[in-house]
Amino acid sequence: MQNDDFQLLSHIRYFCRNKILTLYHLISQTTIQQILSRIDIIEIVGSFIKLKKRGTNYLGLCPFHNEKSPSFTVSPAKEIYKCFGCGRSGNTIGFLMEHEKYSYVEALRWLAQKYNVEIEETEVTPEQKLQQLSADSLYIINSFGQKFFTDYLFNTEEGQDIGLSYLKERGFREEIIRKFQIGYNPEARDTFARAAIDAQYNLELLQKTGLVAVRDERPVDNYRGRIIFPVHNQSGKVLGFGARILKKNDRAPKYINTPENEIYVKSKILYGSYFARMAIDKADECLLVEGYTDVVSLHQAGIENVVASGGTSLTPDQLRLVKKYTNNLTIIYDGDSAGIKAALRGLDLALEESLNVKLVLIPDKEDPDSYVNKVGPAAFTEFIAANKKDFILFQLGVMLEDAGTDTTKKSAVVNQVAETISKINKAEDFTKQQDYIRQSAALLKIEETGLHALVNKYIREKITKEESRTARDEAANSFQPPAQPFEVEDEVASLFNKDEQHERAMVRSLIEFGLKPWENDQRVADHVFEEIEINQLEELFDNKHLIDLVKIFKTWYDEGLEPTQKNFLYHEDLALSKLVNDVMDYTHEISHNWKEFFEGKILTREDLYKEEVFSTLNYLKLRKIKRMMDENQRDLEKATSSEEQLVLLQTHQHLKQVEIDLTKKLGTVIFK
Ligand code: CTP
Ligand code: MN
Repeated sequence: MQNDDFQLLSHIRYFCRNKILTLYHLISQTTIQQILSRIDIIEIVGSFIKLKKRGTNYLGLCPFHNEKSPSFTVSPAKEIYKCFGCGRSGNTIGFLMEHEKYSYVEALRWLAQKYNVEIEETEVTPEQKLQQLSADSLYIINSFGQKFFTDYLFNTEEGQDIGLSYLKERGFREEIIRKFQIGYNPEARDTFARAAIDAQYNLELLQKTGLVAVRDERPVDNYRGRIIFPVHNQSGKVLGFGARILKKNDRAPKYINTPENEIYVKSKILYGSYFARMAIDKADECLLVEGYTDVVSLHQAGIENVVASGGTSLTPDQLRLVKKYTNNLTIIYDGDSAGIKAALRGLDLALEESLNVKLVLIPDKEDPDSYVNKVGPAAFTEFIAANKKDFILFQLGVMLEDAGTDTTKKSAVVNQVAETISKINKAEDFTKQQDYIRQSAALLKIEETGLHALVNKYIREKITKEESRTARDEAANSFQPPAQPFEVEDEVASLFNKDEQHERAMVRSLIEFGLKPWENDQRVADHVFEEIEINQLEELFDNKHLIDLVKIFKTWYDEGLEPTQKNFLYHEDLALSKLVNDVMDYTHEISHNWKEFFEGKILTREDLYKEEVFSTLNYLKLRKIKRMMDENQRDLEKATSSEEQLVLLQTHQHLKQVEIDLTKKLGTVIFK
């Protein structure tokens, strides 16, 4: 093995090991196995929704979307659920996470309690411990800070005279100030810093939280003379702060926010989500505003399903957070806000995620905070209800106004709208898409069929783009850990990609049969990893998520874990477990020749697993050879010198021979 290969291998191993460690952090593998062995999906899902037996499966009303006739199916054999209405699917843990909004670990703990499994906690690595400690310390310091600032606001003269009187003047009542744990940082140079250092908090960590800075080698308060808004995570712990200046000052920023650190990751935070989640669930709608004060004021007015983005465009993580609770997002911005353009920018993504996005603009240079204070809760709520505009049609209106009579600009608008509508592309959103095409065509005064064709063109383009992310492109950076968590690729795209079915079949046979005997003490997995180079998977697979699955399997296998479908199904990364779910879904099975051949003899896949492993492996190899031949052919057409042509022809002959051998081998097994 070359040195480079070796380095790559250890890199993969390192990456996967990290993944496993984070996967099982704190709860031991034995405990997890104990829990998994007791899970009865019918019992668990059945305790939340009413299930009726239909054949081997169970059927009920889907808890994730509104439906009148049941399409939510639970398979006890596969230990999965799938809704044929909204397409959601997953395993028991996924169900708990989705239905109860549990984290992976919370779901495990819930199950452990239910099945009386005692939880054994594992050792974590020293690095993890450090990181955990650091994150924990940040939480602890933040909590100390929050209490200090709240105490200062209510119980000191400066706090009351300056901070509290400002808040009261703005109309915030004491109960809401206490609920949001708002506070005040005194004006003096280092009141907080001294208190924190006296309480033995580490200066470095204090700086990391952003609460303390060091100037001229002395610790100083960073938020001097500011109102402090703590930012909470989903379970109410303080992630960081927004600190608002009191006096008008052109040189100092209005807000100072916590710098990014282990726990404060701005792109994942929605201010107020801790206080809003129940209300969002209940209203089945999430209101999105720009600022801290907007959230607090609306809460005070009894409108609690509201979160703030901090005035920037929504990130994918924030959208996902919203989607955990509802599919209905209503954005409330002030009419002349600079934020509105930013907000609109992120929204194509919302459409892809099937969110229904509405928009309300607050009039007269007001913002939600000032407007609700001006007109009162009832009028505010009425205003929102009456002025909700559909996001796409709103955007279209704005663009049309901009374009005026300019025909070039107008056709740009048509294209833009078509592209936006093409993002609404899930099967269940079909009617919605058609409605948009109709309404937009009317607004644009163009033929509906034309817009239709254009939308389809964008859909096709997107699919082609996805397909052309070829193995070669990926080979260059294939050993980088994926920047995003695994995502199940567009279902439509995979419909167009027959090749992928072969890749899936290979992965499926590895996961399903990997631990079964092969030959001479070898198991299927041993054989597979002998046949395929783990660091050249890109040559066999186009789908890099499938490559990741194979790699994870190998790492687990090498580490002595006996990986089965279950290990993947209960993977913390839901998208990954979903992909495995998809891969193991036998309805997409490609029909192998051997299957037809053996029909009538009632042999099952199980009986034929060796053949299946053999043929899926060799199908991929064959495909690789075919591709190499195509490539060679293209080179041949371009070749200029006769030496070059000769070499290429010899290569062709060689490849052809390999192809013949492979086909023969496949044939003998298939028809033996
Ligand atoms: N913001 C920020 N930094 C700034 C200005 C604004 O982070 N220098 C973010 C804050 O999250 C703020 C939001 O953008 O809440 C909206 O800004 P703005 O409308 O200016 O402030 P308000 O929230 O309306 O605050 P106030 O009502 O106190 O003016
Ligand atoms: Mn404001």
